[in-house]
Amino acid sequence: MRIGVLGSGVVGMVLADGFLKKGHEVMRGSREPAKLQAWAAGAGATACAGTFVDAAGFGEIVVLAVKGTAAVAAAESCAGALAGKTVIDTTNPIAEGPPVNGVIPFFTGPNDSLLERIQAKVPAARLVKAFSCVGNPLMVNPDLPGGPPTMFICGNDEGAKRQVAALLEQLGWELADMGAAEAARAIEPLCMLWCIPGLRENRWRHAFKLLRG
Ligand SMILES: NC(=O)c1ccc[n+]([C@@H]2O[C@H](COP(=O)([O-])OP(=O)(O)OC[C@H]3O[C@@H](n4cnc5c(N)ncnc54)[C@H](OP(=O)(O)O)[C@@H]3O)[C@@H](O)[C@H]2O)c1
Repeated sequence: MRIGVLGSGVVGMVLADGFLKKGHEVMRGSREPAKLQAWAAGAGATACAGTFVDAAGFGEIVVLAVKGTAAVAAAESCAGALAGKTVIDTTNPIAEGPPVNGVIPFFTGPNDSLLERIQAKVPAARLVKAFSCVGNPLMVNPDLPGGPPTMFICGNDEGAKRQVAALLEQLGWELADMGAAEAARAIEPLCMLWCIPGLRENRWRHAFKLLRG
């Protein structure tokens, strides 16, 4: 598939490299595409770089991997190119300010989520939350004891979730579909929980697994 990745940060890079390894074509986007040229030059013939709008237009599936505080505006700036497409929302609503006893601050409240805010501004895009509850070094082929960890996903479009499920399985994840967009209110705070052992004890190699009876 052709996958557009909006993000010049580490999440954009890790996911783009993972998709390329699985045989997909990838365009990464940035407000300053020049800063992705070195990556594109080294990533092979099926990789390229452009603006956010270029990458959104390129992808059959698009990954949103921008800073949480910029996510609504970045998605809105590509609204036309995202219409009808599956959009994997990796973002977390992390607020400015330091963690408190290892707990990072969010700018959303308990009955709200960043995914819902983005979906409201780009209603024609088919958003699916994924990758938000694990650190980037474990996003592709997570190699941990106990078998594949669980990626919690949600979104309003069943077809879009099936597409994301297929990609997640290629990248070594087991899936737990938590339902519609509102489930992001529960999924996004898993980022806070995931970060606590890292911030308190400098332990970062873990992921969530749902045990089903
Ligand atoms: N880091 C992790 O391990 C991890 C794990 C799970 C989820 N996440 C989430 O994934 C997302 C990406 O994280 P990251 O660590 O790769 O990088 P990041 O530093 O959070 O985001 C970098 C991207 O955000 C864009 N950006 C920043 N300010 C912007 C603005 N004012 N307007 C438009 N775009 C702006 C940058 O655009 P330019 O390219 O134009 O500079 C760049 O593409 C975040 O929401 C984060 O919470 C991160």
